[in-house]
Amino acid sequence: MEIASGKGFNTLYLAQQQHHAFTGVDITPIHVDIAQRKAKQKDLANAQFQQGDFHSLDFATGQFDCAFEVESICHALDMKRALESIHRVLKPEADFILFNCFKKRHADLTPDEATATQLIEKSMSVNRFAPLDEFLETAEATGFEVVEIKDLSEATMPNLLRFENLARWFFQFAIAGKFIRFLLPEYLAQNAIASLLMPIASHDNILGYYRIVLKRQ
Ligand SMILES: C[S@@+](CC[C@H](N)C(=O)[O-])C[C@H]1O[C@@H](n2cnc3c(N)ncnc32)[C@H](O)[C@@H]1O
Repeated sequence: MEIASGKGFNTLYLAQQQHHAFTGVDITPIHVDIAQRKAKQKDLANAQFQQGDFHSLDFATGQFDCAFEVESICHALDMKRALESIHRVLKPEADFILFNCFKKRHADLTPDEATATQLIEKSMSVNRFAPLDEFLETAEATGFEVVEIKDLSEATMPNLLRFENLARWFFQFAIAGKFIRFLLPEYLAQNAIASLLMPIASHDNILGYYRIVLKRQ
């Protein structure tokens, strides 16, 4: 199961490679429609998508062999409830694999660093990036074992710098911004502030990008 599958990019890719049955769940109906349409176009009968909130997943207890999420659990409004909901629908010993951004530092931020972090969160419609330690504690308290934590921040830097360059270009032409919006990918116009600040936040060890593997106990 993909938690918050968006327009289906990851699940559709995997369903093309593997014969397993995949289920994507996302809260945004238009995303679910797009993912379903793409699955049909690609003739992928092993990929299905449905609308749902990962805080209260509407599936049977112990239904899934594995769950994963990509840049989505950071949108949780209540991380404990989200983890409990995911834990419930997984089989015992099943893995929950996450690719996401977490706070590396948070208690010792300068006022500018704290403002930059909040601007990134707002720009990405994230309520709050969870501090990594706090997230892992919550996962363990929910009944997951932490199997792997891999810091991928350095590997993401080339992409972050590419987005930063585009964002600089966007702000330099701010007067013509309304026009430029139509030329740029929609996500970049929406995320221009985050694009500008993310490389600094990553370089200064404020935010980190991780692959985390949790095992349901
Ligand atoms: C940044 S997108 C990532 C989509 C997908 N994981 C990908 O990598 O293409 C975040 C997704 O999380 C979804 N989302 C946010 N809150 C959610 C929730 N409470 N339950 C389910 N989906 C949620 C949004 O609708 C959006 O599609």
